[in-house]
Amino acid sequence: MKSNSGKRIGIFGFGCVGQGLHDVLQDNPHLHVAKICVRDKEKLRTLPKHSFTYDPQELLQDESIDLFAELISDPKEALQIVRQALEAGKTIVSANKKMISENLTELVALQQEFGGTLLYEAAVCGSIPILRTLEAYYGNEPLQEVSGILNGSSNYILTKLDAEGLSYDEALAQAQALGFAEADPTLDVGGYDALHKISLIAAHAFGAVVKPEQVLRSGIQHISKGDIHLAQALGARIRLVASARLNKNNNLELQVLPTLVFPDSELYYVEAEFNGVQLQARYAGDQFLKGRGAGSHPTGSAVWADVSAALAGYKYSYPKFRYNDEEQLKPVPLEEDDELKVYVRSTMPELLPQLPWKELTTFGYSAKSTQLVGTINRKDLLQHLPALKQTIAFVALLPAQVSGEQVVQASGAVLEEAA
Ligand SMILES: NC(=O)c1ccc[n+]([C@@H]2O[C@H](COP(=O)([O-])OP(=O)(O)OC[C@H]3O[C@@H](n4cnc5c(N)ncnc54)[C@H](OP(=O)(O)O)[C@@H]3O)[C@@H](O)[C@H]2O)c1
Repeated sequence: MKSNSGKRIGIFGFGCVGQGLHDVLQDNPHLHVAKICVRDKEKLRTLPKHSFTYDPQELLQDESIDLFAELISDPKEALQIVRQALEAGKTIVSANKKMISENLTELVALQQEFGGTLLYEAAVCGSIPILRTLEAYYGNEPLQEVSGILNGSSNYILTKLDAEGLSYDEALAQAQALGFAEADPTLDVGGYDALHKISLIAAHAFGAVVKPEQVLRSGIQHISKGDIHLAQALGARIRLVASARLNKNNNLELQVLPTLVFPDSELYYVEAEFNGVQLQARYAGDQFLKGRGAGSHPTGSAVWADVSAALAGYKYSYPKFRYNDEEQLKPVPLEEDDELKVYVRSTMPELLPQLPWKELTTFGYSAKSTQLVGTINRKDLLQHLPALKQTIAFVALLPAQVSGEQVVQASGAVLEEAA
């Protein structure tokens, strides 16, 4: 392996992750930080002023720099930085899942054209080495499913609701105070962050580049204490689960949905800001990885691992990508005809029966809301989900074996206890 001795790194961003990387690099005195590019000239910093620049070009055009770490919070500017570095054939690592997942095809093409390298392990599940595992160990073996809890902020909130009985607003405020959730938490609690991550996982696990609108996505913003109590009465916990799986027709299904998980699932035991990813491989069988999905040092550690790997010449090979004769990436068909069983609670009872349910059990009518358990085609749910969400609805996936009657019974038990 090549030595890192005397190598120079340019860092963009000195927030949670940038500072985390800087801290962990103190354990690697052979790697020299050239400069750190930030935006705000007035901000108080823990390092002297001469460590910083406010001009990205000062780093990008410095030929003495061996590689860059892009760790800023602005996806548009991040794309400019990564694009410019790759067009110059440079090596860059990034933690920006939104920017990478939305521009993956272009970023892969730039590496092929100019010979540069982009690694982004830190963008998916913080400290869990999921992308490298998919590339290095499952590059050839067919995978059936990769799924998990990929967003630490929403998992923290769900854990607090379940274990401590906090309200959603109280749990969100705690997550923000601890730095697990952004000031604007929409990306986390709306399921967008998990969507970006499962898209990147799908690229490495199945060779699929998917558009966000092809993914069935719902968040946890409208969850109530009643939903939590109902899950508890069924012996389950609610977790925001993202999954990419091949169905019986060998087509891919992608979704990010609140899901009732039971004690027979590893995900039941993933608590607070932790992430967990389960893999189902054709020959290796089931595997499960769990670790800190966010935070300064865990994410900094993942960036450091990428920096070391990149300096040693490592690149992603995207072993499952399929190309056509023009060398263009072939789309992987997404399946929409499977049936899903869901629990819905909505403030607009009149809308719910209008959806094309295959089976439907409604219950819990009140002035405020109605609940149902229904079976519906994936493509119908994908089509109607935006309208459903506008009715302030909470939607959660149920395992197929849980019946509507069981949920109604559990709901009755919750009401009795409350009375
Ligand atoms: N936080 C986590 O646990 C975590 C985990 C995995 C991945 N990520 C990803 O890592 C990236 C950084 O997240 P973070 O939590 O470290 O964000 P953060 O704490 O908000 O820090 C953002 C940093 O980016 C700098 N910045 C923003 N826009 C800039 C621009 N246009 N030019 C130069 N610098 C700019 C800011 O500069 P100033 O200091 O001057 O404001 C700040 O130093 C994001 O893509 C995020 O999604 C974060």
